[in-house]
Amino acid sequence: MALLEQALRAFEERFGSGPEIAAQAPGRVNLIGEHIDYNDGLVLPMAIDRYTVIAGGRTTGDGYHFYLPGRDQFFSAPDLKLGDHSPPWAGYVLGVLKQFELAGFPVPPLRAVIVSDVPPGSGLSSSAALEVATATLAEQLTGHIMAPMEKAYLCQRAEHESAGVPCGIMDQASAILCQRDSVLELDCRDQNHRQLPFVPEGLGVLVTNSKVQHNLATGNYATRRQECELAASKLDIASWRHLTPDQFDQISACLPETLLRRGQHVVSEIARTLQASEAIESGQWSSLGELLYQSHESLRDHFQVSCPELDLLVDFTSDLPGVLGSRMTGGGFGGCTVSLIELAERPFIERAIVTKYQAATGMEPELFVTRPSDGAQPISL
Ligand code: GLA
Repeated sequence: MALLEQALRAFEERFGSGPEIAAQAPGRVNLIGEHIDYNDGLVLPMAIDRYTVIAGGRTTGDGYHFYLPGRDQFFSAPDLKLGDHSPPWAGYVLGVLKQFELAGFPVPPLRAVIVSDVPPGSGLSSSAALEVATATLAEQLTGHIMAPMEKAYLCQRAEHESAGVPCGIMDQASAILCQRDSVLELDCRDQNHRQLPFVPEGLGVLVTNSKVQHNLATGNYATRRQECELAASKLDIASWRHLTPDQFDQISACLPETLLRRGQHVVSEIARTLQASEAIESGQWSSLGELLYQSHESLRDHFQVSCPELDLLVDFTSDLPGVLGSRMTGGGFGGCTVSLIELAERPFIERAIVTKYQAATGMEPELFVTRPSDGAQPISL
């Protein structure tokens, strides 16, 4: 059943009447440009064709009431308080509504149903999809329609304050700005962005979920961010963006080993992402694939945010005919890989990865080919 239909039916069952309005926002997969959105780099994400849908309506009673039929979880709050919420998804929803209130646009008492096919905890930005879907609903409820980046920053504040993850801007911006058949090129230094048409003939983007749950709230993500800030301050640079890998080599001898590695990743990933953007524009698909492999090596060895299962998934592809490139995607410590593959070889590639991964880990990965999809939209009912 389509997500909207599921949401409408669940709303009716739970609340006894239909919702007034609905909105949706997608998950994303980042092709390349990892851990550089908070380091002034360029990122190249695309929205995946998996969405979170929220359907809601004003209530004459008090408070905020949410139902997640997929997990049969209900959450009610008398008002909008920041802080720890259980279940955790409720924190994201309330966090966004709270940000509307703080901006001077209070959201009226509300009841809503949320359904999603973005796999949670897999590095595909299920939390940004939820935040942005909620914000898109709240825009309609309050009449406060925001500029895209204003909305992205509001959702980012919700994530910082409600989930305690000091994330960059890539995920929220992707869920809003991405467009069908394009990769989003977002310059995180000045928020300039453009769409790079991405319909490589005969090729597809394969997402492989290692099924190792990633959780950025445990502190590893925040640590990496602090390490980058510390390295920049030791090098006395205002921005990583101005430093080429060669320049970095000349000035980095003063850094302790860990910070040296972090810096090596940041400067090389910024350079790779600029090259990847050119490769996409000129249709140099094997160069793009090579950059994906290099990005993975750097995330594994220098930034140290991979894990053995992600490394295995990438390694398995390296001698498979029809795979142009592969890397971990998203924050890391689990989650998914993204691979550029020849669609003609897809059945063979998928079988090979599943067989090898099962033999090595005892786990069954989830694989899907996705196409670049549209960002958030209100849904008319
Ligand atoms: C998470 C964060 C993003 C970004 C990525 C790594 O997804 O939310 O802001 O930093 O990790 O590229």
